This record gives sequence, structure tokens and C-alpha cells, in this order.
Amino acid sequence: MTKPTAKLEIGGESPEHEFDILKGSVGPDVINIASLYKDTGMFTYDPGFTSTASCESKITYIDGDEGILLHRGYPIEQLAEHGDFLEACYLLLYGELPTKAQKEDFDYRVTHHTMVHEQMTRFFTGFRRDAHPMAVMCGVVGAMSAFYHDSTDISDPHQRMVASLRMIAKMPTIAAMAYKYHVGQPFVYPKNELSYAANFLHMCFAVPCEDYKVNPVLARAMERIFILHADHEQNASTSTVRLAGSSGANPFACIAAGIACLWGPAHGGANEAALNMLSEIGSVDRIPEFIDRAKDKNDPFRLMGFGHRVYKNYDPRAKIMQKTCHEVLGELGIKDDPQLDIAMELERIALTDEYFIEKKLYPNIDFYSGITLKALGFPTTMFTVLFALARTVGWIAQWKEMIEDPKQKIGRPRQLYTGATHRDYVPIAKR
Ligand code: CMC
Repeated sequence: MTKPTAKLEIGGESPEHEFDILKGSVGPDVINIASLYKDTGMFTYDPGFTSTASCESKITYIDGDEGILLHRGYPIEQLAEHGDFLEACYLLLYGELPTKAQKEDFDYRVTHHTMVHEQMTRFFTGFRRDAHPMAVMCGVVGAMSAFYHDSTDISDPHQRMVASLRMIAKMPTIAAMAYKYHVGQPFVYPKNELSYAANFLHMCFAVPCEDYKVNPVLARAMERIFILHADHEQNASTSTVRLAGSSGANPFACIAAGIACLWGPAHGGANEAALNMLSEIGSVDRIPEFIDRAKDKNDPFRLMGFGHRVYKNYDPRAKIMQKTCHEVLGELGIKDDPQLDIAMELERIALTDEYFIEKKLYPNIDFYSGITLKALGFPTTMFTVLFALARTVGWIAQWKEMIEDPKQKIGRPRQLYTGATHRDYVPIAKR
């Protein structure tokens, strides 16, 4: 059988240039243009990487048109329904669902890395109380490389594994510390008898002066939020982690880079932005005004929590998140939440309005996760921190896959240069 190829004719010149077409196990084929520059002296131009596969990966598959999300082949709906977060972590990291013994061992190893070096607590006091917790996360996670030197040698598989477990285990502790610092309460140490999600709620909401019992419905909701955010293929923050890691930087520094990227409102910051938008709208009768603004080309306003670069159908995670959101509101007895009323009406309008239908702008996961996290008791500034906590495993799995790929090279995109051409320096007195 002849190998499929793509032919490129430049300006009618012959011969044509021929490139291999690579087939994945599912999803679009890709044209391998790695030799394009050598063959033609030209680069490709694709701002925002809308048509560019930056790597080969076996971790996550998304079909944005059909609204499908698979981790290692397993649909996100099934993982969120039947599994827990640490099982999803194991799957992302090692490629298979764990056996009972493997799961117990993994849970034990993660659970016994939950404490952070006591000296790290001093970092927090260096930040202003009103600092955004994502700013604190960027700093403290980056600083982990200053504490855990014994797991920064990326050429050693054992050190890579220890660094991975440390980050998955310590991220909830650091996130909870960022929260406690933010609200002016003492840090709460992890409790290893609790599940990953329950432990996180405990570290956030327990106080030394009274007992705190984790509500299992809320712990399950937290678990779901973590599973739904665990990985999402080559998004901006994951690509940032890969690019940072491609230079050989240590994993703690790479994850700090991912956190910085995630902070932006077009990415992980959207859940915070969505809730702020619901507050700004204020009441259901003001929705049409905001819908008009979202459609107005001359107004930069966008409906936060709507639209996705990849999903041009209902985000499968948003469906599960919507259900979880209602479970949490039911459990907490929140019936008449004005923000929820606005959210439901916005959703209804956006799903029936010609503009949103034509542009395939469906509610995304951030739309519902914001409302759920607010009901769980988190301030909006913590929303993106929780996203970072959950996404850490995805970043690590993708980083690990890249490091273990023998074809891996430093990431180094090229450019279309449109600046000034050569000119001679003019002394300041003559300008
Ligand atoms: N509200 C109103 N119009 C929108 C929106 C929106 N939320 N999103 C996209 N559009 C319009 C946009 O104006 C453009 O219109 P036109 O074709 O007339 O110029 C068209 O839809 C395509 O938009 P785009 O910006 O070219 O699409 P993109 O793939 O570059 O952007 C996005 C994707 C997520 C950045 C964008 O939809 C957006 O800004 N949404 C709001 C922020 C948000 O909710 N982000 C969370 C993403 S999901 C979480 C994650 O994975 O990080």
C-alpha cells in the first residue's frame, strides 16, 4: 500500500513538495511538515495554533464537533460517574485504570506526600493579604523547586515519579493555604484518613475552634470538579508546561508556568469571570442588554463561560457540571439564588438565539463550575486556583509523556517577521 502524502505546489513551480500524512488512532490526520523549511525555505503561519498539532500524545482525545472527551480512551462521563480523582490521576499518568492493589498503593503514596515543608509556610507571610491567590500559587509552586531538590533531575525516572506524586499530593495543601492566608485564618494540616477531595475541603473550611465534618455530597461534588478539570489535551496552559519543560526546566518550575498561563480570563480565569459577569448583570431583566452587547462587534464584551476553541457542541463536562451544580444547590437548600436564575436564563437564551447557534457558542464547564464553587463556599478569587489544583495531574502527565518521548526537542516556533529591515544606529543627539 502506498503511503498517503500531501503535495504542495508553490507558485506553480515544479517539482511539487511531498509530505507524509500521519494517522492517529482517531481524529483528523496530520500533514508532517517538519521538513518544510529545509525543502522550501518557507515556514507555516498559524496564529493561535488553530490547525497545528504541536506534539504526538496518547493521553486525551477531544472531538469538539461531537462533544466527546476521552482520557486514555475512557469517556469523561464514565470516569466522573464511577471513579474518583486519584483513579483518574493514575489513568492519566500510567495509561491504564489501576487494579485494586495498584490503586491502594497509589492512594497511599499520594496521601503520604500531602504535607509541605514547614518552612514553606513562611513564604505566605511575604505576600500581601489581598494578593490574588493565583499570584500566591505561581510563587509558592515555583518555589517548590527550592525545597525538593532531590526530585528535580528530570533525567532520572524515579525523581520524575517522586516530583509528580509530590505535586499531585501537595497542590491541595498549598491551595488551601493560599485560601486560609487570603481569609486570615490559620493553616489547617492535611488529614490523611480523608479522601483527596474531602481532605481539601477540610483544609479549607476547618478551623481550630470547632469540629468540621465533611459533607459527603459536597466532597463528591468537589471530586467531580477535580475529575472534570484533570486534563484537556493541548490547551494553552498544557502547551505552556510542555514548552517550558522542553528546555529541560524542572517540573515544579514548569507547573508554575502552567499556573501563570491558566490565570488568564480566556482560559482558567473564565469561571471567576463568569461569576463576576452574573453579578454585573444583576437581574434577569437586564440579560437582553448584555446579550446585545455580546453580539455587538464594536463592544469587546463577551459572555464569559460561553464558547470554546475546540468544542463546537455542548461541552460534555458542562453537562456533568450542570447536574453536580444542582445536586450541591439541593443539598445546601439553595433554592432562590439570583445568580443561578440569571445563569439558567442566560443558558436558555444562548441555546435558542440565532447568534449563539450560528457561532456554536455553548455554555462551557466554567459556566456551571463557578456557581457550584460559590455554593461550596469558595470566594471567586479561588476558582482558578481549584482549576489549577485539578489540572496539575494533566500537566504532569503531558510533561512526563514529552520527557519520555525520544523524539522530544526544545520547542522553538518561528515567525513571520514584519518589522523594520536593517537600518543603522542613529546617535541620540541626531534623532
Ligand atoms: N460571547 C460572545 N461572542 C463570542 C464569544 C462569547 N463568549 N466567544 C466567541 N464569540 C464570537 C467571537 O466574537 C467571534 O465572532 P466573529 O466570528 O463574528 O468574529 C466568534 O464567536 C469566534 O470567536 P473566536 O474568539 O474566534 O473563538 P476562539 O476559538 O478564538 O475563542 C474562547 C474561544 C473560549 C476564547 C472564546 O469563546 C471566549 O472568549 N469565551 C469566553 C471566555 C471563556 O468562557 N473561556 C473559557 C474557555 S473553556 C475553559 C478552558 O478550557 O480553559
